[in-house]
Amino acid sequence: MKDTFEPVIVCFCCQWCSYAAADLAGSMRLSYPTNVRIIRIPCTGRVDVKFLLSAIEDGADGVFISGCLLGDCHYRTGNYFATKRVAFVKNLLEKVGVNPDRVEMYYNSSAMGPQFAQTCRDFTDRIRKLGPGLRAVAPAPARNAVD
Ligand code: FES
Repeated sequence: MKDTFEPVIVCFCCQWCSYAAADLAGSMRLSYPTNVRIIRIPCTGRVDVKFLLSAIEDGADGVFISGCLLGDCHYRTGNYFATKRVAFVKNLLEKVGVNPDRVEMYYNSSAMGPQFAQTCRDFTDRIRKLGPGLRAVAPAPARNAVD
């Protein structure tokens, strides 16, 4: 089963730097795994703890945030907040018995297309080694429209 396992990975990408880096990777025809589903956001500071936990709970095998380089956030401190939230979620996951390596924070400027592609490859390899996440042990709970 683990040999054929293809992880589902969610990436929250800040529109100013990392999304542009993903775009650059595409323009440079650099390949990175299709396992990574990119969600474009205005700034990584917008990523709430609940977003990360919901992604894991709803079936993502891994989640990462990719933002501007530290000190380069267009809203000044968004990526610092995101870094703290990722550390908080890692701690929380460890306490409930989920490997904290399933969540990560990365920084890629808009000129770092090759690095962004490498980030995607590295993180996908990491999650492949960890195996399936929560969807392997329990189906995602039904959510109603107000969630
Ligand atoms: Fe990119 Fe804030 S604008 S991390």
